[in-house]
Amino acid sequence: MVTDIKTYIEENQSRFLEELFGLLRIPSVSPDPQHKNDMHRAAEYVCNALLEAGADAARVLSTTGNPVVFGEKTIGKGKPTVLVYGHYDVMPIEPVESWKSPPFEPEIRDGRIWARGANDDKGQLFMHLKAFEYLVRSQTLECNVKFMIEGEEEIGSESLKEFCTQNKEMLSADVILVSDTSMIEENIPSITVGLRGICYFEVEIAGPNRELHSGLYGGAVINPANALAKIISKLTDDQYKVKIPGFYDDVEEISESERNELNKTPFRLEEFKDSIGIFDAAGETGYSTLERIGIRPSLDVNGIWGGYTGEGTKTIIPSKAYAKISTRLVPHQDPEKIRGLFEKHLLQIAPEGVNVVVKYLHGGAGYVSPVSSKAYHAASMAYEKVFGKKPIPVRSGGSIPIIAEFERLLGLKSILMGFGLDSDAIHSPNENFRLNVFLKGIETISYFYSFFSE
Ligand code: BES
Ligand code: MN
Ligand code: MN
Repeated sequence: MVTDIKTYIEENQSRFLEELFGLLRIPSVSPDPQHKNDMHRAAEYVCNALLEAGADAARVLSTTGNPVVFGEKTIGKGKPTVLVYGHYDVMPIEPVESWKSPPFEPEIRDGRIWARGANDDKGQLFMHLKAFEYLVRSQTLECNVKFMIEGEEEIGSESLKEFCTQNKEMLSADVILVSDTSMIEENIPSITVGLRGICYFEVEIAGPNRELHSGLYGGAVINPANALAKIISKLTDDQYKVKIPGFYDDVEEISESERNELNKTPFRLEEFKDSIGIFDAAGETGYSTLERIGIRPSLDVNGIWGGYTGEGTKTIIPSKAYAKISTRLVPHQDPEKIRGLFEKHLLQIAPEGVNVVVKYLHGGAGYVSPVSSKAYHAASMAYEKVFGKKPIPVRSGGSIPIIAEFERLLGLKSILMGFGLDSDAIHSPNENFRLNVFLKGIETISYFYSFFSE
């Protein structure tokens, strides 16, 4: 006889963790092609976990890229259908020497699960499997559930776009439910109602046909690394505005009252700075930190290299220099349009005498969701029941490129019920997930289903 959710979680938590650890041990790093085989292993693992949790059927489906896991449980024709989305791929682990315990050997320390993917998104997706398992075993599931778990979120979800177009019928649902975002704090629950879009580029600056002696040639030829630095310095100004012509053309104007509302979100600037070890937070003039992250676009160099970077000195002029540059976009900015503007501008500001190649890696649009939907209300009540407070709607600075595509291709809105915390250090060394939150998340998700099907 299956009891209430709290008891069920208590009695089964060590098994839940063991099962999650099995997935965390698979190094499914999507940006690195060396891990192709691990992507398949992770997909198989999720598929089996779905079947064990109580899905009627689950399959690993191939795409042009990494496989998608699809599973479902049908309760009845007249019942609403929830489509759960998540991703089994994770970010690279570099700098690997900064990890206190090996990234793919999960362990519990200080009440947290430590591993790459502990939160993003293996931990969060596992909460869904376990909430679902409880509802099935206690025979209290009152809606149809579908699962679509992909392996390319961290590289732009390109194959999933095609997959959605080809499987519209199979993916029909009333709402998409996603746990891949964060909360303000453990005792300040929130629901994400906005995501930024993204446009990601790699830039190559080519100069002389070989690395040169910097004494024999220095001052007489254009150094591609110097040229790259000049180009990058022209992309933003002293007010932290992006200087690409047309970049702000479609940026959504947020009303004064909405900005005031946004700025009431609990946020402690001092804590924000301390937590990442900076003395000053800086960004676009005229906007608060919360606004800079939530409603304004940005441009960042993610990495920059070229020439000699080894030990000691080597007096050379590099032959080539590179940078990975990305922009975060807000709703209404079109990634394809931004791509065109970026490429054109880069060629325009490049100094004569070097060859510039701009490679577009991936992109996706931003997203906003209403706070008035039935799904939002169900999620809100679920958080309130478990965390004791009504969740605050927030606009996150992060991106999940497929969410806007779900709306465009499938006509479905998503509800972003995330449980991450800033201290979880997603994408960073020592990613972790609070055990406590993991368990509360399972409970919250199970209540979502009851409220949603009421
Ligand atoms: N789960 C994150 C996105 C996220 C985290 C949104 C926290 C809101 C709050 C997701 O896995 C992610 O990292 N997305 C990438 C986008 C991708 C195209 C590389 C990102 O935002 O960098
Ligand atoms: Mn994620
Ligand atoms: Mn991520």
